[in-house]
Amino acid sequence: MRTPVSLLLAGALLGTMACDDDDEKPPEETPLSVEAEKGLSIVPFALDTNGLSNAEKERIGMGSYLVNAAGDCGTCHQALQPNGPPKYMGGGIAFAVGAGGEVVYARNLTTDPKYGMKLTEAEFIETMRTAKDFSSDNDEEQLIVMPWYTFRWMSTEDLKSIYAYLKKVPAVENPVPADIKGALAAARPVPFPSSYTDGEVSRPLPAESTSDRLNIDRGMAISTLADPAAFSTFSADDKKLYGRGSYLANAVSDCSGCHTNPQRNLQTAKIPPDLFLSGGAIFATGPGMDAALKLKRSMSSNLSGATHGLMKDMTYEQFKEIIVKGQYVRGTITRPLVYPMANAAEALRKLTEDDLKALYVYTKNQTPRTGAADKQPQEPARWCATDADCTSTGGGTCNASNECVGTACTEDWQCGACQTCSSNVCVAPAPNSACLMGGI
Ligand code: HEC
Ligand code: HEC
Repeated sequence: MRTPVSLLLAGALLGTMACDDDDEKPPEETPLSVEAEKGLSIVPFALDTNGLSNAEKERIGMGSYLVNAAGDCGTCHQALQPNGPPKYMGGGIAFAVGAGGEVVYARNLTTDPKYGMKLTEAEFIETMRTAKDFSSDNDEEQLIVMPWYTFRWMSTEDLKSIYAYLKKVPAVENPVPADIKGALAAARPVPFPSSYTDGEVSRPLPAESTSDRLNIDRGMAISTLADPAAFSTFSADDKKLYGRGSYLANAVSDCSGCHTNPQRNLQTAKIPPDLFLSGGAIFATGPGMDAALKLKRSMSSNLSGATHGLMKDMTYEQFKEIIVKGQYVRGTITRPLVYPMANAAEALRKLTEDDLKALYVYTKNQTPRTGAADKQPQEPARWCATDADCTSTGGGTCNASNECVGTACTEDWQCGACQTCSSNVCVAPAPNSACLMGGI
């Protein structure tokens, strides 16, 4: 039985002990989150954590988790080397953004004093949220290729963590050429709204809160489609996984950026809800990259379709296997995933089991897309030097533009990405094919 007296004594005793403790060692620190622990374990360079407080380690670890596991900043921001492995975050990859030679270059995000990122934390957050290009001539231009329309929905805490992590990335002395934006230089930054209005339904963003560390409420607000009819019957755990999955998919991992085609309506900035995650976007490899990857172009899979969608019949174990092993599975066919999903999977497989499950629960439970939106995406179009390259990878012959063609078909979807089925054989797309520019 506790009496007021013993409470008083206990209090006095604890008080003394705390005092003694203060003299000898610093107060107990908050332990790191599992995500930050994971983040620290996957930093791709030697990070010296000596002398860092747990609060600092949490920041940097969480930043690494967002950059290297949940998001994949590294694939676009790496510095490719003619001989040898790419340099982490050194920048310089060119992205063609128009038919008239317009090109933008991924920036050097390292700590290199001359060529690295010079943004302050506040500017970095503004860049991620509004696309303001501080490095452009007049400070008023917009980032073009960078998926800011996805990253803008990250919480301020998470953006701060990414910034803290980038400030630890070793310098890479790699100058990045100036962008040639052409008419796109007229695009202006987009103010950050207080509501999510890009999807089927608009929802106000919840107040920023450190108690919702995993941004489950934020995820619910930025979910592109209306909540599925069955949502109210989900277990409490599944509701959390769904919210977290939406945050990862729609603010960090950018599943929709690649699996919704077209990604956005450029006039209204809305993601077309009928097409959400139903695939069909095209990813072409340029000269050099095509030979290295033995790939001309790939097409994103249909995740959400009622008939052709992949997720409707997928178990968590199968989903995990695709991501962890980097495998594409269709009936009896199993092959390695190709660019750029191979790169995305390389990052995603570093997620915690809970976060992988969250992505599964979210993508699996999207109300199925139907009709014309329920697309039948095509296999990768294979690169070849000789016919032998084709016969060994699925048949056909090598045409003058180094593309495997000539396999048997009855419909277009049985041919390589953007190829068409003509008189029962797959033929290469015409140079002006709409598919080459915008997928299906
Ligand atoms: C699809 C490729 C792509 C991905 C993925 C990507 N970026 Fe970028 N990023 C670019 C390109 C290209 C630019 C520069 C120009 C533009 O977009 O117009 C850029 C610019 C930036 C800038 C502006 C730098 C400056 O000095 O002004 C920052 C900051 C940045 N990226 C951070 C990130 C972070 C953090 C991630 C991951 C969460 C990321 N990027 C993912 C392509 C990408
Ligand atoms: C940079 C673009 C890109 C991003 C980001 C991306 N994907 Fe993909 N994804 C693709 C492409 C392209 C394919 C087709 C790959 C192939 O044919 O090997 C694909 C294939 C897949 C597959 C299917 C494998 C199969 O058997 O057909 C799954 C599942 C998948 N993606 C899920 C996701 C999820 C979930 C996310 C977000 C966490 C995501 N993807 C993000 C481009 C992307």
